[in-house]
Amino acid sequence: MSLPNHFDLIATDGTARTGKLTTPHGEVRTPAFMPVGTAGAMKGVHWREVRDAGADIVLGNTYHLMLRPGAERIAELGGLQNFTGWRGPMLTDSGGFQVMSLAQLRKLSERAVTFRSHIDGMKVELSPERSIEVQRLLGSDIAMQLDECVRLPSERADIERAMQLSSRWGERSRRAFESAPAGYMLFGIAQGGDVPELRQTSARGLVEIGFHGYAIGGLAVGEPQAVMLAMIEEVAPILPKDRPRYLMGVGTPEDILEAVARGIDMFDCVMPTRNGRHGVAFTRFGQINLRNARHADDPRPLDEESPWPATRSCARAYLHHLVKSGETLGAMLLSEINIAYYQRLMQDIRDAVSNGTFESFRERTRAEWARGDI
Ligand code: GUN
Repeated sequence: MSLPNHFDLIATDGTARTGKLTTPHGEVRTPAFMPVGTAGAMKGVHWREVRDAGADIVLGNTYHLMLRPGAERIAELGGLQNFTGWRGPMLTDSGGFQVMSLAQLRKLSERAVTFRSHIDGMKVELSPERSIEVQRLLGSDIAMQLDECVRLPSERADIERAMQLSSRWGERSRRAFESAPAGYMLFGIAQGGDVPELRQTSARGLVEIGFHGYAIGGLAVGEPQAVMLAMIEEVAPILPKDRPRYLMGVGTPEDILEAVARGIDMFDCVMPTRNGRHGVAFTRFGQINLRNARHADDPRPLDEESPWPATRSCARAYLHHLVKSGETLGAMLLSEINIAYYQRLMQDIRDAVSNGTFESFRERTRAEWARGDI
């Protein structure tokens, strides 16, 4: 039986789309970029700035929150929004990807993935049903199915086995989600590595099960950008046009622009905050590494035309000084500047799609990035 649809497609321009997703905690304008607040906190950035920068929705992680402070505790405290103070929509990842990248001694069976916590070594079992239960306890607006993601390159047989397991786990996740209250959503995740045929099989299987929205997982895991874009081109045409499509863990501004051109509506990535902590700013003119000595005497802001105060007003020399001195404020300012840059890019993309000018926007934006910082 098909699930209710909470997504309104407002306009398309070629394959690019803009729309609105309605969640229990508010609306999400798409294409949307979700900043990552892994453990219920945006590293170094206050929610106020995340909201002011224009983010409608943020991402949290089942894996981290179930280990600490615990899903049952967050439920007792009124769910993620009450617990964290972020009052808007939240999407939670299911834990599959984080178990792969963080946990120790991971053991996979048909029933569940068992692992040792990276925090205290405790043995934990995560099944598709438990992942949904945890995400329900967290009160997440959009839950993700548990999946298995393989790194690339991998053998075809391994990619196929993980894809098939993810499909079966998708079905179990869907059943476990049946009792969720109206308005809350569950997204399926397509796997299949870099094998076009497996990507198509995965996407068709998910559509048959039926989800509120569809994610493409298992990308940006070591493959070239051209392979990632080719896989999106395999999957997107199979997905229902009236449902949201989410490319997980992506990516650079260039990746986002190219994925939107291929019909993607949602993104998440740690890049704006992680790169910010490492002294790198995202700007209209590409990435600028503030550690570089050439900024030491530069009185100019990163971009004097930016609407974001820190981007427009802080001298590059000051940011360089903060980063070089290891001041916490340097990481904070650059994380905030980067989140604002990503949100501005998404707004510009939404406007361009609405106005039917996405193609010229894409060309112009790529030319600015290519020009570089001068
Ligand atoms: N985040 C980035 N890629 C993935 C993926 O393949 N699966 C899940 N669950 N999360 C991701």
